[in-house]
Amino acid sequence: MKVIVVKDQNEGGKKGFEVFQNELQSGAKVFGLATGSTPITTYQEIVNSDLDFSDCISVNLDEYVGLKADNPQSYHYFMQEHLFKFKPFKHSYVPDGTNLNATAETARYNKIIEENPIDLQLLGLGRNGHIGFNEPGTPFDALTSKIKLTQSTIDANSRFFEHEENVPKEAYSMGIGSIMKSKHILLEAYGEKKADAIQKMIEGPVTTEVPASVLQNHPNVTVIIDEAAASKLSKM
Ligand code: GLP
Repeated sequence: MKVIVVKDQNEGGKKGFEVFQNELQSGAKVFGLATGSTPITTYQEIVNSDLDFSDCISVNLDEYVGLKADNPQSYHYFMQEHLFKFKPFKHSYVPDGTNLNATAETARYNKIIEENPIDLQLLGLGRNGHIGFNEPGTPFDALTSKIKLTQSTIDANSRFFEHEENVPKEAYSMGIGSIMKSKHILLEAYGEKKADAIQKMIEGPVTTEVPASVLQNHPNVTVIIDEAAASKLSKM
């Protein structure tokens, strides 16, 4: 893992942008994208740049089950507002939260991922070490599935909802098996609330209890963290 420590999330956004720029210039065509507060500065840098993704495909990590694309809390909506309306892709895929037939939806999404091998996958990090919505205990070879969110994830995500009871309890998420097939993985994490997960991800044992620790087994991972998120690393 290549670990880059930056001062803050704004500087991280600039570094994240450089990774996207390099990949695009090297011919990358398929970008795996993430939501949450973490990638926002990277998306801002992309939006303010002259990078052109109109010939590229994007494949998002996850979506809440039950939310329509026009629901402001949905990940469809997030992507539209933060990136796609400024930088359209040739085609953008996001799991369909309104498809309540999980077998059909996960099969559909797995086919999309298979047909569009991901060149660069962007990841945030859950406080409990989850990536996408792959919660602790998820097998490392899992493909897209319907996930029951843990209470810690529901608590963390409730800041985006008016009432905690409105936070969906389930999500569709690309599996760790698919994430690991990406040619290059870029994980960003900011703030002291991520320090534990970062320490375990980088220095701890590779275990399904910390889903992000699987990244130790991937040959091409770039990690961008700020000083607060790096504060529990022993080797810094
Ligand atoms: C959610 C998303 C993850 C994201 C995580 C961290 O659970 N499904 O993809 O990485 O939250 O979010 P944030 O970046 O807001 O801290």
